[in-house]
Amino acid sequence: MSSNGELAAFLVTATDAARAAGKIAREVYHQPRQIRFKGHKDIVTEADIACETAIIDIIQARHPSHRILSEERGGVAALTEAVGGDYVWIIDPIDGTHNYAAQLPYWCISVALAHEGETVVAAVYDPIHEEMFTALKGGGAKLNGAPISVSERTDLDDSLAACDIGYDEIISPRSLKIAQEVRPYVRRVRMLGSAVLAICYVATARIDLFFHLHLMPWDIAAAMLIVKEAGGLATDFDGKDSTIKSMEIVAANPVIHASFLELPQVNRTARQG
Ligand code: IPD
Ligand code: CA
Ligand code: CA
Repeated sequence: MSSNGELAAFLVTATDAARAAGKIAREVYHQPRQIRFKGHKDIVTEADIACETAIIDIIQARHPSHRILSEERGGVAALTEAVGGDYVWIIDPIDGTHNYAAQLPYWCISVALAHEGETVVAAVYDPIHEEMFTALKGGGAKLNGAPISVSERTDLDDSLAACDIGYDEIISPRSLKIAQEVRPYVRRVRMLGSAVLAICYVATARIDLFFHLHLMPWDIAAAMLIVKEAGGLATDFDGKDSTIKSMEIVAANPVIHASFLELPQVNRTARQG
C-alpha cells in the first residue's frame, strides 16, 4: 500500500483530471449536443467521450502502470479483472448524463483510485457549482478543501431522503416503491438524477439519506469513500459495507441509516419487489 505522500499525489491527479473534464463539459454545456443511444433509454453525449479522453490522458501520462475502468470505454466485462488488480482508476466521465443533456444543473465528474479492490482516493467535481468533493482513505472528506461531515440528524421523521431509480426494468420499480413506502416516515423525498452527486450531498449533510438499488462501479467508487470518510455509512440493503462491486447503496449517518433499514417494508421491497 502507498505512503500518505503517494496517496496525496494520486489525489492531485484525480482532482486535476476531474477539473480538466469539468472544463470541457462546462464549455459546451449550453451548445446543441449530439446524443447517441447506447442502450434502451441509455444515452451518451459527445461531452461524455471528450471528458473520458481528457481524464484517461492525464492518468496515463502520470501513472502509466495503473489500469483503468471507465464507463464509456470499459464496461462491466472489465470489472472482475479491474477490482482484483493493484491500482485501478474507476471513472464516470459524466454522472447525470440525462441532466447534462437536458441542461439540468445536477451532474458531475467522478474519478476514483482503487487499490486491491478498495477505493483509496476519490474526487467528484461539479463544475456548475464549482464544488470539488474529495476523500483519501483514512484522511477524511473535504469540499473545496474544507472538511465535511454527514448530518447529525437522528430523527428519520425529520430527514430529507433522496433516491434514484436507474434503468433496470426489474430493479428500478423497486426503488420507486421504496420511495413511496418510506415517504410517510421522512420529511421529504428527492430524486436528483445524479447518484454520485446525491451521495456527496449526504457527505455534506445537505441530504440525510440516499438509496439506490442498481449502480455500477463507476457510480459508487468515489462517492462511497467520500460519504464514509465524512462519517457516514455506505452499505447494501442487508447492511453489508459497500464495495466497488456493490450494486446498491444506502448512505446516511449511522442513526438514520439504522432507522431506514429497520423499516420492514424497505428490505422486503428491495429483495422481492
Ligand atoms: C446514472 C445516474 C443516475 C442513476 C443511474 C446511473 P449516468 O449515471 O447516476 O442517478 O440512477 O443508475 O446510471 O448514466 O448518468 O452516468
Ligand atoms: Ca453514472
Ligand atoms: Ca456516466
